[in-house]
Amino acid sequence: MDTDEIGPRCLHRLRARPLYTRPARAVRLIYSVGMADLTGNREHNVVIIPGDGIGPELTDAALAVLEAVEEASGGFHLRLDVHRGGAALYRETGANLSAESIAAVRAADATMKGPVGLPEVRFPDGTEAGVLGGVLRTGLDVYANVRPIRLLPGAEAPIKAEPGEVDYVIVRENTEGLYLSRGKGVQTSEAAADTLLITRKGTERVVRRAFEIARQRNGAPADGVRRVTCVDKANVLPSMAFFRRVFDEVAEEYPDVQGEHLYADAAAQALVVRPQHFDVLVMENFLGDILSDLGGGTIGGIGLCPSGNIGDEHAYFEPIHGSAPDIAGQDRANPVSQVLTLAMMLDYLGEGAAAELTRRAVEESLKSGALTIGDYGQPVGGTRAAGEAIARTARTLHG
Ligand code: IPM
Ligand code: MN
Repeated sequence: MDTDEIGPRCLHRLRARPLYTRPARAVRLIYSVGMADLTGNREHNVVIIPGDGIGPELTDAALAVLEAVEEASGGFHLRLDVHRGGAALYRETGANLSAESIAAVRAADATMKGPVGLPEVRFPDGTEAGVLGGVLRTGLDVYANVRPIRLLPGAEAPIKAEPGEVDYVIVRENTEGLYLSRGKGVQTSEAAADTLLITRKGTERVVRRAFEIARQRNGAPADGVRRVTCVDKANVLPSMAFFRRVFDEVAEEYPDVQGEHLYADAAAQALVVRPQHFDVLVMENFLGDILSDLGGGTIGGIGLCPSGNIGDEHAYFEPIHGSAPDIAGQDRANPVSQVLTLAMMLDYLGEGAAAELTRRAVEESLKSGALTIGDYGQPVGGTRAAGEAIARTARTLHG
C-alpha cells in the first residue's frame, strides 16, 4: 500500500497526525473515564490501521458508517489516529508497524485495522511479513480472538438455515497453541518443526472469557441453552487432552452454563450440519483459525465476518479475512466484515447503543435491498456505495 491508496477519510487524518500529541498512558487512564469533548460527547481515542490490499477501501466504508452512527445516535465521538501498518510498510521500511504506531496502539482505547499482508512480501523463513499477529496479538497479549458467526438476512449462504438459527461465537486462543512457533519454528533444508504449546494460564483465561461471553448471550438458537463447547483433539494429542482438563476445571466455576466437548474434526462437520446447536466455542489458536473460516463459509463467506482480539489491557478489531490484493483498488470488496468489526469495537468501548445501531443498519440494508451481495460475495454497486447505503440506513433507523 502506498499512501495514495488510502481512502479520503483516512488520508486527511494521516496527514494531520503529527499535529496531535497523545497524552502519556498514565494520564490517559486517569482522564479517559467520562472524558468529553467540547460538545459534551464521550470521547474515545481509537487507532485506525487501514492495512493492505482492500483494507483502505473497507476502512473508508466503515468510517462512513461511523460518521452516520455518531451523528444519528449522538453522545459519543471517536478521535481517530490513522497509522500505516502491514506488508507495504514492511517492504518500504523493514518493519510492518513502526515503534511509534505500536506505542499509539498501546495508548489507545481500542484499534480498528483492515486486513493486512501481501503474498509476495515474506520474511526469510518463508512466512508472510505483513501479518501483524505477532506484533499485535502476542505483543499486546490480546488472548481471546472473538469471532461471531451470524447468518444475516439476504446472505447467499450454502447451509439451509434461517437468520437467527446460526448465531454462535468462536473464541480462538490467540497467544499460544501452534502459533507459538510464529517466527521461531525449527528448520533445516530437510525438515521443519513447529511446537504447539498449551499452558494452564493461557487456557484458563481464554476459557473463562468464553464462559463470560456465554453469560452475556441468550443461549444457542436450537434450545436457548447457554453452552460452551470445548473443541480439541484430546483423543490424539496430549497438549489437547491438557486443554480439555483445564476447560473442565474452569467449567465448574460456571454451573449456569453448559460445558461440553467435541473433537475438532467432528466440530467441523457439526458446524455445517447442525449449527443451531452452538452458542460459544473455545479452542486452540490454529483450530480456531480454520474453524472460523469454515463457519464464515457456511453463512455466505468470510467477507461478512468481524472479529475482536481482546485481552485484559488492550483490544484491536479486524475482519477475519485477508487483504485480497487481486481485487484491491477496484471498489469491489464487501465492507460488511469491516462495518461489523466497527460494531464490535463500539461494544468494547461501552457504546452498546451505537454498536446495535451499526448492526441493525447492516441487517436492514440487506433486508430492504439497499445493499445486495452479488457474485463472489461482492456488493452490487461497489464498496463505497455499500458503505453509503449502510450509513444512510443508520440515519433512517435512528430518525
Ligand atoms: C486470521 C488470519 C491470520 C491468522 C493470518 C493472516 C496470519 O488468517 O486472522 O485468521 O492465521 O491468524
Ligand atoms: Mn484465518
